[in-house]
Amino acid sequence: MTSRWMAMAAGATMIGALAACGGSGAGGAGAGGGGEEPQSIEDMTVGVAMPTETSERWIADGAAVESQLEEAGFEVDLQFANDDIPTQQQQIDQMITKGADILIVASIDGTALANQLKAAANQDIPIIAYDRLINGTENVDHYVTFDNYQVGVQQGTSLLRGLGVLDENGEETGEEGPFAIELFAGSPDDNNTAFFWQGAIDTLQPYLDSGVLEVASGQTEMDQVTTLRWSQETAQKRMEDLLTAHYGGGKEQLDGVLSPYDGISRGIITALQNAGYGDTIEDGLPVTSGQDAEIASVKLIDTGVQFATIFKDTRKLATQAVEAAESFAKGEDPEANDTETYDNGKKVVPAFLLESDIVVAENIEPLLVDSGYWTAEEVEAGQGD
Ligand code: GAL
Repeated sequence: MTSRWMAMAAGATMIGALAACGGSGAGGAGAGGGGEEPQSIEDMTVGVAMPTETSERWIADGAAVESQLEEAGFEVDLQFANDDIPTQQQQIDQMITKGADILIVASIDGTALANQLKAAANQDIPIIAYDRLINGTENVDHYVTFDNYQVGVQQGTSLLRGLGVLDENGEETGEEGPFAIELFAGSPDDNNTAFFWQGAIDTLQPYLDSGVLEVASGQTEMDQVTTLRWSQETAQKRMEDLLTAHYGGGKEQLDGVLSPYDGISRGIITALQNAGYGDTIEDGLPVTSGQDAEIASVKLIDTGVQFATIFKDTRKLATQAVEAAESFAKGEDPEANDTETYDNGKKVVPAFLLESDIVVAENIEPLLVDSGYWTAEEVEAGQGD
């Protein structure tokens, strides 16, 4: 911990304690100044707003956060918003009305919650942004996430490994291509999208510049390649259109695709298989990256269909969020290990960043099975329990 961080934390703790003293709402969390009885964790409810149940990742996050909060003694109000912004706004409004003491929020659109969070702040309810930063508001107290730029670097690296430009240690092999690739980015309203993109494109750019990699569509700007709501169908459609426009009729063969998320990867792979590229990488299917180690994609990796994913252990993220909630409940500031990167336009939000890993067929077992994230049976079935 740097002394700068400690100074900031100390300052912030004072502000936190003052806020708690002045707080009259249910969220005078724990610090219990101003003659109020300190609230114990057992009397506190944490509202947990998750974006969607259409992705396993968020179901797992919701379950992990809920169970770990309950273990810590909190009551939990867990809601999923079906990737619909008004639904998420309404759910958070209701959490506040029902007396939530702390909020943990994984936003759908990082800019759409300012009103809700203002209402929460007015009642001194601490707000923890979960995985996705919430933008354009002072009212975010802490952020738990992974090192999102590094996730992008790992995505770019895994694509280069799949193409054989880098070896498994990340060393250049001398392979010069040229390889035909296409690029996909995540949802434009998710703050993480630009971080993943930047990490990936910084990794790929030297090879684009030297001609080892070529993008036949010419679509190399993030704004040209985003995928609203991270939708698998949208990605499949864009891949189909790219194939028709740039790779049809015996023209160039595609070799690889940068994909920022497993659902998008599966859409891309379906389009490629339908276009006759083959069922597996060995049969000629282009190599595709991913993210989240979703079980359907882990099976595809295990069977040589998708090349790689990035494993972000959602159990650890949940632990970090719960520890942050416990700190707020005691009137303290949660531990942060990054107080510079995540500027939301109104403030730099203190963040705790976790590390992620590249998963390819060879390390599914040590990374995912041995750690208990997925069982060997689930990997084989391509389905969680
Ligand atoms: C991002 C998240 C990724 C992935 C994606 C689609 O915000 O960081 O891990 O889950 O959303 O859900």
